[in-house]
Amino acid sequence: MAHTFIPDIDSNVRKSMIALLNHRLADALDLKLAVKQAHWNIKGKTFIALHLLLDDVAGRVDENADTMAERIVQIGGTAKGTSQAVAKATSLPAYPLDITAQDDHVTALCERMFSFGNACRKDIEEADKAGDADTADILTQVSRAIDKDIWFLRSHLE
Ligand SMILES: [Fe+2]
Repeated sequence: MAHTFIPDIDSNVRKSMIALLNHRLADALDLKLAVKQAHWNIKGKTFIALHLLLDDVAGRVDENADTMAERIVQIGGTAKGTSQAVAKATSLPAYPLDITAQDDHVTALCERMFSFGNACRKDIEEADKAGDADTADILTQVSRAIDKDIWFLRSHLE
């Protein structure tokens, strides 16, 4: 039986949580690549601190993407994590390829992390209303981590 041991959550709720999580998964995977793009190309006064910090941020975003992807499958969905699926579903604007200055990278990342965090908060409310406390908890963990990393990054702005 295909549905044996899938969490006892209404199937319509699971369907909407799967769609919601796939949106945030696309954002997170897109964001991870943007953070790596900055990690590789950034130049400025605090280069080494930012270079190292950005790798930590990418790692945390990746870990949170993994948690969301696995939740999607746990509740009976398919995680859509290919580059093609991500490019189609991401709500983040394309990351610029022509910037190097650290303020430009930090600002571009903070803008995207800020809107990603806000999207997560909207989804926490939706998951709560739908009665999926576990998905709400995962998204709470994701937005809390993003808020902390925005704080780390924005402290580098002049
Ligand atoms: Fe590296």
